Amino acid sequence: MVWLTAYSAPTARAMDAHVDAILVGDSLGMTVYGMDSTLTVTLDMMIAHGRAVVRASSRACVIVDMPFASYQASPADAYRGAARVMAETGCAAVKLEGGVEMAETITFLVARGIPVVGHVGLTPQSVNRFGGYRAQGRTAAEAQKITADAKAVVAAGAFALVIEKTLEPLARAITKAVSVPTIGIGASPACDGQVLVVDDVTGVFDQFKPKFVKRYAEVGRDVSNAVAAYAADVRAGRFPTMEHCFVADKKNKPAKPKK
Ligand code: KIV
Repeated sequence: MVWLTAYSAPTARAMDAHVDAILVGDSLGMTVYGMDSTLTVTLDMMIAHGRAVVRASSRACVIVDMPFASYQASPADAYRGAARVMAETGCAAVKLEGGVEMAETITFLVARGIPVVGHVGLTPQSVNRFGGYRAQGRTAAEAQKITADAKAVVAAGAFALVIEKTLEPLARAITKAVSVPTIGIGASPACDGQVLVVDDVTGVFDQFKPKFVKRYAEVGRDVSNAVAAYAADVRAGRFPTMEHCFVADKKNKPAKPKK
């Protein structure tokens, strides 16, 4: 399965025919808003971007991330936030981060008609607990915990599971052990699907390239070159020319004033 993030209508329209699912990830905090982490992303931001993506896609399954602090306090809190996301965006499902500790919440949401995607391994909303974005599952204890998280999330009713930035062969083993599709990001070619951040794939976000990213375009560089060429044309008087002006022709002649 092919999943990719999108945050805007034009990007969603461009990818809709090519992917199985579009994830409106809270990574938009970094890619769109220039934040340092995903921790300051709000439910209103996710809803605004989710709505734009749903509007522009007709084929792919659209999943919207629940942002930090919108679902962790209690299952009832999570339901209120997720119900808003579903009702106000028209998306098909929500994704939330966490393992064993989120199982009760996932069961609560699924029982009330909200399809949920789980997310284990490196969960960016817990960056402060992890102390950075290092790959997870380095020790036997860590690998056991992530496996237990994956199993708990699936047993709770998640219909798919994102596994982020874990050491092989952990994601391979989890994929064998669970009954729902696993979607890897920096996890394993053995996952049932892959997801990446669209700005990484297209080179819009070109500050750095994580090891697990394969870049298919250099849009950031192309935009910079296009803007430089535009600026040079305007400064040199090469743009605009008469070709870009509105000139009255016979058909569009202004009406003669009546005497
Ligand atoms: O926020 C996001 O974009 C994500 C994925 C990359 C899995 O959660």
